[in-house]
Amino acid sequence: MKICQTIASIRDFVRSVRNKGPVGLVPTMGYFHEGHLALMRRARQECTTVVVSIFVNPIQFGPSEDYETYPRNTERDLHLAREAGVDAVFIPGAAEMYPEGYATYVDVERLTDKLCGRSRPGHFRGVATVVTKLFNIVNPDIAYFGEKDAQQLQVIRKMVRDLNMPVKVVGIPTVREPDGLAMSSRNTYLSPGERRAATVLYRALQQVCRAVAKGERDPVYLQQMMKEIINQEPLVQLEYAEIYQLPDLEPLSVLKGDVLVAVAARCGRARLIDNVRLNMESLGEK
Ligand code: PAJ
Repeated sequence: MKICQTIASIRDFVRSVRNKGPVGLVPTMGYFHEGHLALMRRARQECTTVVVSIFVNPIQFGPSEDYETYPRNTERDLHLAREAGVDAVFIPGAAEMYPEGYATYVDVERLTDKLCGRSRPGHFRGVATVVTKLFNIVNPDIAYFGEKDAQQLQVIRKMVRDLNMPVKVVGIPTVREPDGLAMSSRNTYLSPGERRAATVLYRALQQVCRAVAKGERDPVYLQQMMKEIINQEPLVQLEYAEIYQLPDLEPLSVLKGDVLVAVAARCGRARLIDNVRLNMESLGEK
């Protein structure tokens, strides 16, 4: 497995393998868990060459967020990437990605006004900008993102379409702990009590799935139900529990088509997000 710490070296590597077949990119901020590995394994199945980037992107963190303390363990990440059959890891330095005087950003409008975009102003601008840079540097045919970050996935799909980027975007289902908690590098911030409490997010989402399966179609009722469930957990402070139409994240008055049910909450030092996607057609709706 090749380890590239500069833009020039990953470019050279990709150039040397380009004609062998499709190049897959898995962008990450490191501190790997099974969610990251699921992306790498899927890329391994579909691509001749798999590149993983590890870069804790400073511009997607707000001033009072956890950029400094974001968990990092590059040695362990390299070991896991090697085991997953990754061909090259790109680990750039912040000074090369954002040199003195850096001035260009990518803004995806509207999609980013709601959900996490409302509570983390500038976050998706930082994500869209770094993903654009990674696409321009690595030049992948296919890029892999987790459905766990549902809004991020929609923002990237929209950006790729709007800017005619020659990349296919593949979404991978959320990987969970046995008790349902969505895997996240930030779960390491949780104390044992908070870790137990954190499962309330998935429990609330499952309650929605059950109610919808029984015929409930009112988003206001379902949002209220999620809020009540999450508010029963004293260690968890709800940020939002909302339902939107996919793919554009428009508000909806009745559940139909493809629907996103998304929650975010604070639990101790951790900010946790989770979601489920419901396809009303496959539930027997017209
Ligand atoms: P990071 O949080 O490291 O996540 C990297 C990728 O792994 C993202 O596409 C994310 O959606 C996916 N992922 C995380 N947890 C997952 C889980 N439990 N199941 C499935 N996939 C999961 O997301 C980022 O980094 C950054 O914003 C990035 C896109 C790299 C831009 O900086």
